[in-house]
Amino acid sequence: MRGRLRAAQRCASILATLTARGAAPTIAHRPCLPQPRPNRRHRADAHRPRVTAQASAPRDAPKAIDEHALRDALAQFATGVTIICAHAGEGRYVGFTANSFNSVSLAPPLVLWSIAHRSRSLPAFAGAPRYVVNILASSQVELARRFSRPHADRFAGVAYELGWAAAPRIAGCVAWLECRHHAQMRAGDHEIFVGEVVTCHRGHGDGLVFANHRFAAARPL
Ligand SMILES: Cc1cc2nc3c(=O)[nH]c(=O)nc-3n(C[C@H](O)[C@H](O)[C@H](O)COP(=O)(O)O)c2cc1C
Repeated sequence: MRGRLRAAQRCASILATLTARGAAPTIAHRPCLPQPRPNRRHRADAHRPRVTAQASAPRDAPKAIDEHALRDALAQFATGVTIICAHAGEGRYVGFTANSFNSVSLAPPLVLWSIAHRSRSLPAFAGAPRYVVNILASSQVELARRFSRPHADRFAGVAYELGWAAAPRIAGCVAWLECRHHAQMRAGDHEIFVGEVVTCHRGHGDGLVFANHRFAAARPL
């Protein structure tokens, strides 16, 4: 009798724990108290409640995400700022400001970035076998602004050189990476590019940072 009482208390305690965790368990309707079992193997499990997965959607299922709230949340993630450039044929170049850049792999050396489908540079990048990722210095904030807006000639007055990728390596950057096209993938309203780094260079100065919708300088705390 004492054993049956203990089993009932344990059963009630497990149920209370699951409910407190929001698990909203569905307990199969069978008495919690141990029932006679056909053999000893089942007797050990006799006190455990049967919990089955809930079939219906959780009560707190999220609504469609608010774009403004998403942008604001993502803006709390500070990034570096790059200008990614490619040869667009006949001595013309494309370049745009991007903070979607990130490192992926060291062996092989892979990086990635993404570009909006509405971007005018996308056709040139989609056909480019090579390109340059210029990582901007804090002193280059005006270039970051220029390459993010419509401009008659974004490269006018910009000091750069051409190297292995046949695209602008902008002077004064904290680093540049020349990449060979590796992979491309459609993702929502953007196209993700993965590049294999073939050559790179490290410059000097503080990097340019974009955080909370603003430019800033990357300085040690
Ligand atoms: C800090 C910053 C980061 C940006 N990052 C990206 C990015 O990663 N991908 C993208 O498609 N646009 C990005 N943009 C917007 C483009 O720079 C902008 O749309 C530009 O006009 C595209 O040029 P295009 O239409 O000539 O290709 C960014 C803008 C700023 C100011």
